[in-house]
Amino acid sequence: MTVRPLLEITDLSVTYWGRSLLGLRGKPFFAVKGANLAIRAGETLGLVGESGSGKSSIANTVLGLVPASSGSIRFGDHDLVAMKTRYPSEVRNQIQAVFQDPYSSLNPSMTVEGIVTEPLRVHTNMNKAERRERAIELLKLVSLQEEHLSRHPHQFSGGQRQRIAIASALALRPKLIVLDEPVSALDVSTQNQIINLLYERRDALGIAYLLIAHDLALVHHISDRIAVMYLGHIVEEGPSDRVYKNPAHPYTKALLDAVPLLDPDRQRARRESRKLQPALDTQRVADVGCPYKNRCPMAMPRCQTDMPPEYPVAGGGVANCFLLAPEVEGHHATKPSREKRIP
Ligand SMILES: Nc1ncnc2c1ncn2[C@@H]1O[C@H](COP(=O)(O)OP(=O)(O)O)[C@@H](O)[C@H]1O
Ligand SMILES: [Mg+2]
Repeated sequence: MTVRPLLEITDLSVTYWGRSLLGLRGKPFFAVKGANLAIRAGETLGLVGESGSGKSSIANTVLGLVPASSGSIRFGDHDLVAMKTRYPSEVRNQIQAVFQDPYSSLNPSMTVEGIVTEPLRVHTNMNKAERRERAIELLKLVSLQEEHLSRHPHQFSGGQRQRIAIASALALRPKLIVLDEPVSALDVSTQNQIINLLYERRDALGIAYLLIAHDLALVHHISDRIAVMYLGHIVEEGPSDRVYKNPAHPYTKALLDAVPLLDPDRQRARRESRKLQPALDTQRVADVGCPYKNRCPMAMPRCQTDMPPEYPVAGGGVANCFLLAPEVEGHHATKPSREKRIP
């Protein structure tokens, strides 16, 4: 029997509307187009891709901060898109968030006790003593101590602030935490500490994560599955180890090649040899063919005109790339699992 995922995103699109000089609705801008994703209870989905690919737009849509323009998001028995960003408190409690910047996401005038107990004050009827008790417990979960309760955010390092944000996200025992680049602002050793902390808490508490990052190598250990985004499209998805060790989409390969080498000379040489071109937004307006066609070293004529559907990848998952099509010589994939809708 297959268990129904906790979160299921189907054919999700997110559109922002420009404004003309008169304040009228201008041109639509597709930040996310036709995204399919699923997260099972207690699992981590790593969502990776460069800046501007649409990762935060997906996160913010799940959180009810940005409306979906089409598609569906099911969380448990709730249809989140139908709620039009006005989630009832039972949904709000079960989905928590941690954002990138620990310097601006914590209210500087509040103490740690105030920050960590705020969700309890708003959403439960615990009294002050009970909330304090729970705050101490929560600080322990993120390796901070009781004596930190009375301090303010500016008295902590970036990594410690992110621990405080995580403690606050854990307060209501959520089923899902959306982590939008939670370690991108931290130095490398702190990044690893926070990722390890998230890993331990997830396994102890059985929480699912939607973990957004631009560095695939950093999140592949903690992720059960990885989805890769490029210019608003999910271009590959699959079991974390398969995507990391055996990427199928040329963009996923390029992302992995972008992981810095320790030797600065080799790193410089590689950067010169395969300069990643900045993504052009005009590609989205045209939106014909594969979103990666202009940067792809393997592009074929049909990539200019046709949107690649999802093809199954050996070892698990799917990739939207014609190189995986059964008719491409030397490849023995089966037929596409699901055609992407082309409007
Ligand atoms: N509120 C908004 N209004 C208009 N465009 C936006 C808005 N938010 C994001 N965008 C655009 O949508 C695209 C995707 O952004 P985002 O989802 O933040 O990507 P990522 O998190 O991967 O960097 C970007 O081109 C960005 O400029
Ligand atoms: Mg973002």
